[in-house]
Amino acid sequence: MIGTGYIGSFTSLALLEAGYDVVVVDNLYNSSEVALDRIELICGKRPAFHKVDLTQEAELDKVFAAHPAIDSVIHFAALKASSIAGPSWLLFHNLHAPAVGESAEIPLEYYRVNVGGTISLLSSMKKHNVTNIVFSSSATVYGDATRFENMIPIPEHCPIGPTNTYGRTKSTVESIIEDFITAERQNAQKAGKPFEQWNGANLRYFNPCGAHPSGIMGEDPQGVPYNLLPLLGKVATGDRPKLLVFGDDYPSRDGTAIRDYIHVVDLARGHLVALNNLREHKPGVKAWNLGSGRGSTVFEMIKAFSAVVGRDLPYEVVPRRQGDVLDLTANPTRANTELNWKTELTMEKACEDLWRWVSNNPKGYRQEPPAELLKA
Ligand code: NAD
Ligand code: WQD
Repeated sequence: MIGTGYIGSFTSLALLEAGYDVVVVDNLYNSSEVALDRIELICGKRPAFHKVDLTQEAELDKVFAAHPAIDSVIHFAALKASSIAGPSWLLFHNLHAPAVGESAEIPLEYYRVNVGGTISLLSSMKKHNVTNIVFSSSATVYGDATRFENMIPIPEHCPIGPTNTYGRTKSTVESIIEDFITAERQNAQKAGKPFEQWNGANLRYFNPCGAHPSGIMGEDPQGVPYNLLPLLGKVATGDRPKLLVFGDDYPSRDGTAIRDYIHVVDLARGHLVALNNLREHKPGVKAWNLGSGRGSTVFEMIKAFSAVVGRDLPYEVVPRRQGDVLDLTANPTRANTELNWKTELTMEKACEDLWRWVSNNPKGYRQEPPAELLKA
């Protein structure tokens, strides 16, 4: 039970391909039902879909009642810092003013959807005895891990310390899931019932990117892109004149900040293995980093994307973006060993797949996919 958004749609596809039945719930705030058409074109199967707002518990109850076989939830629905919806937010994202970040501007909305929505979801799951939850957390919960010695690459035991409202909604939800699962286990034990069925995974994604290799499925946010690679895509298609590089005065190998870019297809597979771990090993609540372990600078990403586009892309260095940190590179050892999962696709492959998606679908899901890609 998941979303129609970027990562949710790729995870739906991975689940269907692995033989799961999938029920998708989303209010389509930042996504489109067309994602379901693309999933069907790729794998021949279509998930069930309910247009429901996560904060409406009675509506969620109806979905669980309609699908009594559901035993697990993968929870993607959230407002996120990486798309800026609505014209008023354009003000904060013009070419010369690095974005303050939407979550700092409308914190109550972020808490209402991300935290309030999760509470509705867990409450509804409890009523319908749905006992496994996989949650989309973020590397953002770590904040600036360089404030500690020897915490880059970042292991899960690194103390969390989000530096923005969005990150605080994620760390709050992680705590809520931990408290909820712990309580349900204790309640079941006291009642002499099996308790191991209650499990949760907090998946801390690093920087998801890329698109489906077919070129017919990718990220299609409703607002203005905020993340580096979608913005590079816009520069390459001519929709933006240049990329603004937010700071070249970081203490890194070339002065720009370092991130761990992970291909969305690898990330989607990470959800399957986490879900299987909950079902088979019943670990209680666990956090897993989903990253490659390889950090790339902004300049390295510009170079890699320019290489697949076949020409140099224009950029201009401007001051640092407020709230950015030097280095978010994962130590993925826990996921490597406990989930037997590691990334298989490089950031160069993510650049290649992203370019195939954006160059062939300039209007995203608001256009039919090109016939030559459908034949391939
Ligand atoms: P996305 O915006 O494409 O997907 C989120 C989905 O949630 C959208 O389809 C949106 O319509 C839906 N949604 C929002 N509010 C809702 C509500 N009230 N009720 C029902 N549905 C609602 O974003 P994504 O990149 O696919 O991110 C998925 C999850 O992963 C989010 O929780 C996000 O915070 C988290 N995450 C994303 C990234 C990233 O860089 N993309 C990194 C770390 C964590
Ligand atoms: C990557 C690097 C920028 C745009 C954000 C959210 C995080 C998670 C993922 C979840 C940084 C630099 C970017 C530009 C630039 N979201 N950059 N010029 O900031 O690591 O993480 O997305 O939903 O919570 O904070 O990702 O892609 O925005 O930036 O120089 O126009 O690229 O400064 O170093 P970030 P990003």
